Amino acid sequence: MIDETVSFLRTRTAARPAVGIILGTGLGGLVKEIAAETVIDYAEIPHFPVSTVESHKGKLIVGTLGGKSVVAMQGRFHYYEGYTMGQVTYPVRVMKALGVETLLISNAAGGMNPLFSKGDIMLITDHINLLGDNPLIGPNEDTLGPRFPDMSEPYSRELIALAERVALDLKVRLQKGVFVALTGPTMETRAEYRFLRTIGADVVGMSTVPEVIVAVHQSMRVLGFSIMTDECFPDALKPVSLQEVIAVANQAEPKLTAVMKEVVTRL
Ligand code: HPA
Repeated sequence: MIDETVSFLRTRTAARPAVGIILGTGLGGLVKEIAAETVIDYAEIPHFPVSTVESHKGKLIVGTLGGKSVVAMQGRFHYYEGYTMGQVTYPVRVMKALGVETLLISNAAGGMNPLFSKGDIMLITDHINLLGDNPLIGPNEDTLGPRFPDMSEPYSRELIALAERVALDLKVRLQKGVFVALTGPTMETRAEYRFLRTIGADVVGMSTVPEVIVAVHQSMRVLGFSIMTDECFPDALKPVSLQEVIAVANQAEPKLTAVMKEVVTRL
């Protein structure tokens, strides 16, 4: 399947992107900064799942950003949409087969760390997988990666340090912390937020972890960002809507876009 997808993409582009970008809910703006050479609807790509959530546009963009050849997904696949873990992570397999070695990934997330506030950008330093599933379950394809991938450093310390230097130069405040993934689509109860905070998570979301696991399986370097779109403090919890999540993500997005672009430039 990967070979067929890549063969198709090769008919549309001769680019050899070294950087892959996956953008989260309300965070697609980085795409505007890419000098696009080729834009392909997911629906056209053999074996690619099709995006169902309205807030995602569903396009693969190949072009240059900060002088680097990049491939970006505008819109990603979520487990809660009913896709299998294999489908959710398929684009990361394809990116690697195209030559991508570095993956930049973003998401909208609820923040539980009381020192964070709405609109903050957090560098993901580590994650907790509470999806109850794993994209590597099943026979291992040894040509893609090892049976038991090491997860001692899923998010590259080197890239985290680079992002921190960039943020300092651009005067953008960055938080750092642990991302926990749940399936959704429900938001969490107060008791769940309290639990997630207790087990060591700073923010919670419904994506990213599957893609990162597959990236690590394939020895890719990962840099992950969460935008804290809502404050999930159990004793002061207010209802949150998708509209609010998107509005806050859109507001914080220019800062994130600036940081991600400059990181790519300095890679
Ligand atoms: N929980 C899970 N996912 C989210 C949240 C949340 O509170 N906010 C944005 N994505």
